[in-house]
Amino acid sequence: MTDIVEKLRNTSDLSDEELAALIETDDRDAAELLRRYADETRQKNYGKKVFLRGLIEVSSYCKNDCLYCGIRRSNKDADRYRLSREEIMSCCENGYGLGFRTFVMQGGEDGSFTDDLMCSVISEIKEKYPDCAVTLSLGERSFESYRRMKEAGADRYLLRHEAASQELYSKLHPKEMSLQNRKDCLFALKELGYQVGAGFMVGAPYQSTKHIVADLRFLQELQPQMIGIGPFVPHHNTPFAEEKGGTLELTLRLLGILRLMFPKVLLPATTALGTIAPNGRELGLQTGCNVVMPNLSPVKVRKKYDLYDNKICTGEEAAECRGCLQRRIESAGYEIASERGDCID
Ligand code: 5AD
Ligand code: FES
Repeated sequence: MTDIVEKLRNTSDLSDEELAALIETDDRDAAELLRRYADETRQKNYGKKVFLRGLIEVSSYCKNDCLYCGIRRSNKDADRYRLSREEIMSCCENGYGLGFRTFVMQGGEDGSFTDDLMCSVISEIKEKYPDCAVTLSLGERSFESYRRMKEAGADRYLLRHEAASQELYSKLHPKEMSLQNRKDCLFALKELGYQVGAGFMVGAPYQSTKHIVADLRFLQELQPQMIGIGPFVPHHNTPFAEEKGGTLELTLRLLGILRLMFPKVLLPATTALGTIAPNGRELGLQTGCNVVMPNLSPVKVRKKYDLYDNKICTGEEAAECRGCLQRRIESAGYEIASERGDCID
């Protein structure tokens, strides 16, 4: 198996069969070699730098009904909220003071966040903090909406494709959602000049190795600047409540594979990874990750942005999260970068 890791390091690609073998392997030597080469590649491109993204969870209302997600519209027990524009601005002020130079506005697909409202919030943030990047993660919207928000100053957009295989996508989403539309959105965002992030959950129900290979091939086609993956974690109020979660080992293997296939990509050590293992994010950083996304949302809403069970960082103030992450990053052998952290392609 280590010969496959060597080949991946040298060529940044593998055949479908080799990828499948590496995804499935329990060979510890291969896992350790993959970790070493992933870290070597991230250090060649980004040194020891880790970029911080201040995550502002703007709304837990969602018109979608994804089967895995705790804020799906069918979850009548979800305690919903949306932040006002003043609350969003005050998160940015707080975050700027803590050294964040990227603000990520993420939320469910909430019709109250109209294009007019979003554009005016985006312009205000860019006016007040011209040295900061604005990232949006608001799901599927129209081309015109994406165009207007880009024009208002948005720099980046995160939209996980969730599953590139039609078969798996249909098992994770209700009938009215379409994989084709999701892919069209991602290509539209690229065309409009956004730095784009895609990705998927690891160990989602019904996910097999061939589905993951399809995800990797789709990412090669899209060539996103950012790739977000994290383990699936069941939520007690969803149809997947009793399903098994994704594992630390598989998530780390995939992070290593992604770093070698996409040497310059921005790759976060996600909150979900920190949720399934106390040192999950540190291990992610040592396996090719170069981004972390501390929570900047007001503490009073944090527990309500409840995508999956046992989510970490829901009781801490932004400053506490920032301090906690700084300690974790430094203990893992890396350092916080002070710049915006755009992709170096
Ligand atoms: N477990 C892990 N990740 C989840 N997401 C949604 N629900 C879950 C869950 N139960 C991820 C999705 C989405 C991102 C915001 O959170 O991939 O794109
Ligand atoms: Fe949020 Fe540790 S990163 S509390």
